[in-house]
Amino acid sequence: MRHLLSVTDLSVEELDELLKAAADIEEHPDLYAHRMEGKKLATLFFEPSTRTRLSFEAAMYELGGQVLGFAGANSSSAAKGESVKDTVRTVSCYADIIAMRHPLEGAPWAAVQSSTVPVINAGDGGHHHPTQTLADLMTLRKEKGRLDHLKIGLCGDLKFGRTVHSLIEALARYPGNEFILISPWELRVPAGIINELKEKNVAFREAESLEEEITSLDALYMTRIQQERFFSVEEYLRLKDSYILDEEKMRLAPKDMIVMHPLPRVNEIDVKVDRDERACYFKQVMYGKIMRKALILKLLSELDREEAPGPVKITTGKHCKNPRCISTTEQGLEPLFYPVHQVTVQGVPTRIPTKYFCAYCEMEQV
Ligand code: NCD
Repeated sequence: MRHLLSVTDLSVEELDELLKAAADIEEHPDLYAHRMEGKKLATLFFEPSTRTRLSFEAAMYELGGQVLGFAGANSSSAAKGESVKDTVRTVSCYADIIAMRHPLEGAPWAAVQSSTVPVINAGDGGHHHPTQTLADLMTLRKEKGRLDHLKIGLCGDLKFGRTVHSLIEALARYPGNEFILISPWELRVPAGIINELKEKNVAFREAESLEEEITSLDALYMTRIQQERFFSVEEYLRLKDSYILDEEKMRLAPKDMIVMHPLPRVNEIDVKVDRDERACYFKQVMYGKIMRKALILKLLSELDREEAPGPVKITTGKHCKNPRCISTTEQGLEPLFYPVHQVTVQGVPTRIPTKYFCAYCEMEQV
């Protein structure tokens, strides 16, 4: 059984496999519309969420599956003091896969100890957020055309921003990437991640000025100051407006630099920047749903399965060509055909629905 707790649970080959699958899902969503029929995803969100929870749910529905869960610790038995392990053990009886978010770091690692189904970490405190990284990787692949040899500026709350931690871990495994870590001194990337970068000889630099660094980046990843993780209100108020990306700063940036943000934004990106074609943060939202579809399929071992599309009703008045087929005589029996999308042209699999087979007698319709 596979879980996704941190992005390093997936090899680089598997990340590439997911990106490839996502590209296919994006192009042919219909081919995946029934893959999860009869399966249930539980979303256990002990912490607020808009995009992550709803994109998981939309992904599962679009795969033909169903969804159950809760969207706040107060509406679950956590409010009565139930442990994460007991909650997850219970939910394993109801669902085939679990996506969970929790304010405490490491909560999903506790969850897998009692889960009998795959668990996906949808964010644990200020620790990891691997599925946001999947969205970010798809964004970089689509918008920059590659995941290597990129100069990436990460800006804002790099201490508590879990999306930053997971993204660094993922991109550090691709060759030639360089990280510019732009934050106030108090909100620098945790020492453990810095040490890993040093050990792996990954190029990085810590900086404080967005204006100075923005001029040479391939991608700028803005983040929100994570108010809920601060122990002191004064400290938050002092740091909350550390960086605001506006049109003026965008004028300093390269023409092909993309702006990313996991969202929600508070005020670290001026809304006027939304008009700039380099702004990619709402594209990230869409890519996140597609990557979550690929991930659900992978964890439930359905990614490699040859699609077996359900029979389709042909509306052009077609009837089965086989005179001995039951559908030619049986009253009230609707003609149904299976399209075959996967054909091989000169050894290359393509997905052109060229062939149809009768759903009753299985004869190819020529
Ligand atoms: C992020 C998160 O929850 O860590 N949001 C998200 O999932 N897209 C970023 C944030 O809350 O700042």
